[in-house]
Amino acid sequence: MSYIDQLQKAVDAIRKVTNFKPEAGIVLGSGLSGFSEDIRVLGKIPYSKIPGFPVSTVEGHNGQFIFGYVENIPVILMDGRVHYYEGYSMQEVVMPVRIMGMLGAKYVLLSNASGGINKSFYEGTLMLINDQISSFVPSPLIGPNEQSLGVRFPDMSEIYDKQLREIVTKTARSNAIAIREGVYLQVSGPNYESPAEIKMFQTLGADAVGMSTACEAIALRHMGIKVVGISCITNMASGISKKQLSHDDVKHTAAIIGNKFRQLVWNSVVNIHNELFPKKKPVIETEQKPKVDKKVMFDDDFSDFEIINIK
Ligand code: HPA
Repeated sequence: MSYIDQLQKAVDAIRKVTNFKPEAGIVLGSGLSGFSEDIRVLGKIPYSKIPGFPVSTVEGHNGQFIFGYVENIPVILMDGRVHYYEGYSMQEVVMPVRIMGMLGAKYVLLSNASGGINKSFYEGTLMLINDQISSFVPSPLIGPNEQSLGVRFPDMSEIYDKQLREIVTKTARSNAIAIREGVYLQVSGPNYESPAEIKMFQTLGADAVGMSTACEAIALRHMGIKVVGISCITNMASGISKKQLSHDDVKHTAAIIGNKFRQLVWNSVVNIHNELFPKKKPVIETEQKPKVDKKVMFDDDFSDFEIINIK
């Protein structure tokens, strides 16, 4: 089956259970998963219920789409992502963000946990991503180009939208949340880097290193969708930190900074929305109520599928 057919099949499966049209997409990285408790949830679809979808194999990583509202803004959350190091192809890794775009998201906020390379950062620094280096992992666009998604050779001169970055910066300032800016470099993982690699990345101009995000940003830009990204520096990178790196420490710092991160994302989405769609009338909930037809989609097990209707 071609890539676009695979994507379309996933969209069709989702459309059988909901006609919800998100305007914003939010990818919840480590540290931001609690954000789903902040929104008014309409429904959830585990990736495992979507045909042909990659499913996370990492312990502690959820894998589901959550549909709901940030104030009156219809949003789709990716609660958990799959990573290249799990053995999926880059094309598969970016399927969930592509689906967000195909369902209607006009812009996507990407978040992640990363290791700090810039020596003026510290554990818990929030970094607005202003550019990226993805040359150490394959492009998600390798393979036949699907013209209906985007052009063969897409421009990447402003991956992270300048206007959206300015809104996030202003939002942080008005909420008294400290935020830095920098270049995010994606590695394949799953091993953390060696000190020599971190020195090389520093020379190349990277401020933070992580195992996700850059590939998603490329796929979204390919589709012409606006992107903004925030990284939570959960640890100083190998060799800069005197400590050995562990996933538990990454999760620990992410949990500590979680509340601030959630507040920044919530307010940024509200401000981005007001600026991008100034005259839009508030969405009326009844129009957005998902059409639920469970029987059509999954004829056996719906135990994980949850639709919460708002009165
Ligand atoms: N390296 C790569 N990925 C990461 C790190 C790191 O130090 N911290 C969190 N994700």
